[in-house]
Amino acid sequence: MSKLWGGRFTKQTDELVEQYTASISFDQQLAEEDIQGSLAHVTMLGRCGIVPQEDVEQIQQGLAQVLELIRSKEMVYSVSDEDIHMNIEKKLIELIGPVGGKLHTGRSRNDQVATDMHLYLRKHVVIFVELLSKLQIALMEQAKANYDTIVPGYTHLQRAQPILFAHHLMAYVSMFERDIERLQDSYKRINTLPLGAGALAGTTFPIDRHDVAEQLGFDRVYENSLDAVSDRDFIVEFLSNASLVMMHLSRLCEELVLWSSTEFQFIELDDAFCTGSSIMPQKKNPDVAELVRGKTGRVYGNLMGMLTVLKSLPLAYNKDMQEDKEGMLDTVSTLDGALRLFAPMIATMKVNRDRMRQAVRQDFSNATDIADFLVNKGLPFRQAHEVIGKTVLYCIQKNVYLLDLSLEEFKQFSPLFDETIYAVLQPEQVVNARNVYGGTATVQVQAAVGRASEALNRTEAWLHEHENKF
Ligand code: ARG
Repeated sequence: MSKLWGGRFTKQTDELVEQYTASISFDQQLAEEDIQGSLAHVTMLGRCGIVPQEDVEQIQQGLAQVLELIRSKEMVYSVSDEDIHMNIEKKLIELIGPVGGKLHTGRSRNDQVATDMHLYLRKHVVIFVELLSKLQIALMEQAKANYDTIVPGYTHLQRAQPILFAHHLMAYVSMFERDIERLQDSYKRINTLPLGAGALAGTTFPIDRHDVAEQLGFDRVYENSLDAVSDRDFIVEFLSNASLVMMHLSRLCEELVLWSSTEFQFIELDDAFCTGSSIMPQKKNPDVAELVRGKTGRVYGNLMGMLTVLKSLPLAYNKDMQEDKEGMLDTVSTLDGALRLFAPMIATMKVNRDRMRQAVRQDFSNATDIADFLVNKGLPFRQAHEVIGKTVLYCIQKNVYLLDLSLEEFKQFSPLFDETIYAVLQPEQVVNARNVYGGTATVQVQAAVGRASEALNRTEAWLHEHENKF
């Protein structure tokens, strides 16, 4: 059989053109969605009396056979059939004869491909919400095991104030919560059906778009046929949401790399999540964390690529839009790989509490608390800051820490100091003094974990509603 669109042509397509314009090498990943959409479309054609019921049944059976070939990897794709849509249609006609040619009635590849992409992303957004919630669970379990682990908190990567390690981990739970919310919000727009828009203007056949929407579980149909076939906002939105997830992961990766270094020794990643060196026998490298950090770049690149493809594109479909797929598919597999590794990597991470504790002892991260102590005694904060700055300088010159100073020494800097200063400077006290909503005090972190568990329940309910729906 020649090309499905061959009628108007008198010459064969140049072989290089065929190769250059084909998308089958990558859009075969949309095969299941393509058949899912076709089954709903042909069912509707039957219900609307556009295609006789016996033909509809033949086509449905034929599509089921094609699906089997695809699943058993027996399907042979051909570049000369350009893309997944024409490869499937051609195979259908090959299997059931010319009646297969009725499938494309009232449809264009333009609304077909858009439908495939919506179906594909809809499925993956649900998977990502689930993977993100599993990562949140791993982080929260580590947080719960570390309510009493105190670690220096940093600004400028300089020790700033002591915090609970649990508090640090819960910051990431909050980030991933926003990611989940964004993905859930994008689902509304992804779950809109383009099919029925035809090539761009609609169709002359009396189709029922809402019937197809209902069969496929779409909440609504596109309002405008031109917009339906031209819209790739939902892909940009996905790539942008994926970029934020990767950015969050990359920040955590950076911390894991730092924390597992000999200089820090705050954590140890499980052997199963590290690799060795081919030359240096002592090495245990945090490759997964590094690679996720590195792969963030390609996801940002995919976002930029998609935005640039769409810039200034006139309505409606343009072949440029075929470039929407590789970046999206690559992003889906990159994110999927990262998230699947991350949850167990966090769950198996060993936390070196003693080392963290030691780090807090040997620093000035309790300096703010002495300033606050003087403020509570009536000194304006700015003056207290100056007094403690001098006290810290004195300690640095003497090579000691604040807790090492005698009361006489403290009093040289301010007569407001008394015995109670030593209790104020203890790391537990410093941490628990920050008893403000969202702060690092143990009770606050426990409350935060409680709220995060409630959010997790809401995510689970959402997943229950959206998972494996079709
Ligand atoms: N392979 C094409 C794509 O991915 C399908 C749509 C083709 N439409 C067309 N008018 N050539 O964009």
